[in-house]
Amino acid sequence: MRLLVHSARQVVQVCDQGQRSLRGADMDRLAVLTAETDSAGLAVAVDSDGRIAAIGTNKTVLAAYPESRFDQVVDATGRVLLPGLVDAHTHPVWSGDRVDEFAMKLAGATYMEVHQAGGGINFTVQRTRAACEADLLEALLPRLHRMLISGTTLAECKSGYGLNTVTEVKQLRVLEAARSHTPVQISSTFCGAHSVPRGKTSSEATNIVINEMVPEIKRLQESGELAVDSIDVFCEKGVFNVDETRRILQAGKEQGWLINFHGEELNPLGSAEMGAELGAAAISHLEHVSEEGMRAMSAAGTVAVLLPTTAYILRLRPPPARQLIEHGVPVALGTDFNPNAYCLSMPLVMHLACVTLGLTMQEALAAATINSAASLGRGDTHGSLEVGKQADMVVLDAPSWKHLIYQFGEASNIISHVIKAGQVVHSRPGAAGPGSQF
Ligand code: NIG
Ligand code: FE
Repeated sequence: MRLLVHSARQVVQVCDQGQRSLRGADMDRLAVLTAETDSAGLAVAVDSDGRIAAIGTNKTVLAAYPESRFDQVVDATGRVLLPGLVDAHTHPVWSGDRVDEFAMKLAGATYMEVHQAGGGINFTVQRTRAACEADLLEALLPRLHRMLISGTTLAECKSGYGLNTVTEVKQLRVLEAARSHTPVQISSTFCGAHSVPRGKTSSEATNIVINEMVPEIKRLQESGELAVDSIDVFCEKGVFNVDETRRILQAGKEQGWLINFHGEELNPLGSAEMGAELGAAAISHLEHVSEEGMRAMSAAGTVAVLLPTTAYILRLRPPPARQLIEHGVPVALGTDFNPNAYCLSMPLVMHLACVTLGLTMQEALAAATINSAASLGRGDTHGSLEVGKQADMVVLDAPSWKHLIYQFGEASNIISHVIKAGQVVHSRPGAAGPGSQF
């Protein structure tokens, strides 16, 4: 057996009936085990392939699996155990930060004004095209590490700062190379249609994505050099329209990739309806989604990935999180880490989701675990603590899991351990003893 975590005061399973996502009122009803007394702490046993073998009181788990059988033991006395967080939307491979743009935005410029002035995505594209693979990897790894110490064990990571075949492939190769350097599991998304490159129309760019980029990535995937999970497009007025987006997504779907795209962010275009019709796994942003779009997403089971950092930093109207939940759309969360929204912390995102989108803490945690996993097609293996699932876990040094959201900006100070597939991949210095009493 690989790992035993014992004596926890709380184990947040999130769900315990094998659900692949949570919707509606179920998002507010999490499965949480609480130890009746300190001496009857809770334990999780992980088998040698990194999956959860048992969850229960110390007594029941140790009766089934004696302590001497484990390679590693974590004493979680006074601590809380919860699923590793899943970041459903990031753009982590790039060179060229945009700190000066932040100043422009504070002075009143909108996202599209910055974009049209030669800033925004196209600025980062220039820098990313000029960077070599090694430099991009060197920039990426500390970002992934900061995600990890904030509790993220699975992250969706996009390309999209290349906008030509060679640089899009370069970004996907960097993600591929990162896999052997980081415990953070990467779900990789091809986002060659993240913006229209300079000198091209959106219709020309659409054809390049479909006729050049997709076939080349498919070839590299078939030869085992790349593994791509999803396809993404920035569907927006002045970027790719709904028809162009549909054609690109369809081309990705034909490769077996999941559809997971940016829609309804700055203008209502009906992309939620289009995405639902194509069977999209997820649509991100949705600040301007219509009633009809919500109904279509609910019927198709399309996950809404909400990004509170973006609405916050751009001072946009926040997405209608409550209506999405009322319509039965599974709501997930992502940091949207990118040079515009420089945030790597899912606990901070959960906090923002509660304060600015009106989620309860239960809903925010469901969104950051099981529903984010569902947005990546991994609700069956990730996102909750249940027997048979991958043992991705966070140990929290706090009296209850809610402190992960309540103590905002503090996650890395109160997370004592991060566990990936039953291996302890991060422990905070000084975290070896029993949990501190708050
Ligand atoms: O999700 N909206 C498009 N993409 C990103 C922004 C990327 C950038 O500004 O570099 C987003 O917010
Ligand atoms: Fe994005």
